[in-house]
Amino acid sequence: NNNQNNEVILLDTLIFAHRGAAGTHPENTMASFEAALKAGADGIELDVQLTSDNVPVIIHDETVNRTTDGEGWIKDLTYEEISKLDAGTWFDSSFNKASIPTLDQVLDWVKPTRLLLNIELKNGVVRYSNLEKIILDLINKYEMKDRVIISSFNHYSLVEMHQLDPEVETAILFMEGIYEPWKYAKSIGAKGLHCFLPVAVPELLIGAAQAEMPVRPFTVNDDNHMENLIKAGCPAIITDWPEKAVHIRNKA
Ligand code: G3P
Ligand code: CA
Repeated sequence: NNNQNNEVILLDTLIFAHRGAAGTHPENTMASFEAALKAGADGIELDVQLTSDNVPVIIHDETVNRTTDGEGWIKDLTYEEISKLDAGTWFDSSFNKASIPTLDQVLDWVKPTRLLLNIELKNGVVRYSNLEKIILDLINKYEMKDRVIISSFNHYSLVEMHQLDPEVETAILFMEGIYEPWKYAKSIGAKGLHCFLPVAVPELLIGAAQAEMPVRPFTVNDDNHMENLIKAGCPAIITDWPEKAVHIRNKA
């Protein structure tokens, strides 16, 4: 941002809690999101997939195998089946009451808070039909459009979201160097760059700042990386450790 004298003003780096406070809590559960709010995060990032009966649920992997006591692909399980799974014990037995939340549940919880919400559409491996419309309808149900960022590694999906509603903010996820990604992102209607941390080199941070497009690298867990990005005025970081990030930001 520039003021009238054309001096660059560095705004505070926003802290997005990756899958909630996933460093200390079972990822993508209400316990993890509540911890992120308590830690002072500005937003949370979460992953969404669709059950066989088209309920958007919050889970990173395409199967329930790693993070629950169940087995199978989300796309093959009903919400009724998914809702009974223990999504906490794999992390620590003290979280044995944690379950897989629905997006509806998270929106209902997040609405009265101050949190921003980054919804990652997990549709790179499984192409859930109508996912974009289902998510958009839910965001509208809670009138949360101005606090939501939709991201995906599947950029076709971001284009579809943009076509459904150009007002909903989208951001490209990418793992490797794209030359002048702000130009590419703009060409598909996206307004943010969510890049793998090693890709967030000075050329990218400077170019994106000049193009007024926010960069939100993931997953920034190391103290030095946090401090460097905060001091460089990176618009946001996505981290498993929101409490630590808030602390580092307060000192910077
Ligand atoms: O949205 C940033 C980051 O979460 C993307 O990778 O695999 O952690 O969902 P992943
Ligand atoms: Ca994610």
